[in-house]
Amino acid sequence: MNKLSVAIDGPAGAGKSTISKILANSLRINYIDTGAMYRALTYKVLKNNIDINDNFGIINILNDTNIDFHENHIYLDNIIVDDEIRENEISNNVSYIAKIKEVREKLVDIQREIANNKSVVMDGRDIGTHVLPNADFKFFITASVKERARRRFEELKKKNKNVEFEKIIEEIEERDRIDSTRKVSPLKKSENAIEIDTTNMTIEEVINNMIEIIEKGR
Ligand code: DC
Repeated sequence: MNKLSVAIDGPAGAGKSTISKILANSLRINYIDTGAMYRALTYKVLKNNIDINDNFGIINILNDTNIDFHENHIYLDNIIVDDEIRENEISNNVSYIAKIKEVREKLVDIQREIANNKSVVMDGRDIGTHVLPNADFKFFITASVKERARRRFEELKKKNKNVEFEKIIEEIEERDRIDSTRKVSPLKKSENAIEIDTTNMTIEEVINNMIEIIEKGR
């Protein structure tokens, strides 16, 4: 079967990663979570006590960093950091790292290289517009701010984190603002992407919708 690439973009908390994971599994191809790559670098920056606004320090550490995926695990300098990168502190700082041009260039190179070699479902913010502009299928997954905050709140509560709903709304709005207004590859729907608003949909409905589109168009 020919190599397949599916690009999935959308704002924070719209359900992209859950959906992409299940979709990749159903299609029996690799899932590449590009947000995890920005998060891994953020984790390293914070761990090394580098100031989040110190671009020079961040670019310096970037040049000495190895980020990769193997069997759905994210590796930072050859160590799995799947859990560490999901902490709220990382979520609240990653947008600052993701707007640095040099960071994006290096991570996009890695992402393109991966998609060159195998079939992928790749999710992020700039996959359809910039990383894989010729992807076979492009989806833009959205949901209302309130619904995205509700999902994030439930997720954190499950992990016994002490969080306030209003605070989560503010954090999501702030991330949306930074991700959509940054100069380099802002979050934007690719012209030929299919938009799916998941606010009132179950995950199963979203997946079935996407698989139907892919099977018809393949
Ligand atoms: O999807 P996520 O929440 O794990 O993404 C983490 C951050 O990385 C988010 O603030 C946006 C940024 N990001 C990006 O700029 N480009 C991507 N392709 C993926 C994520």
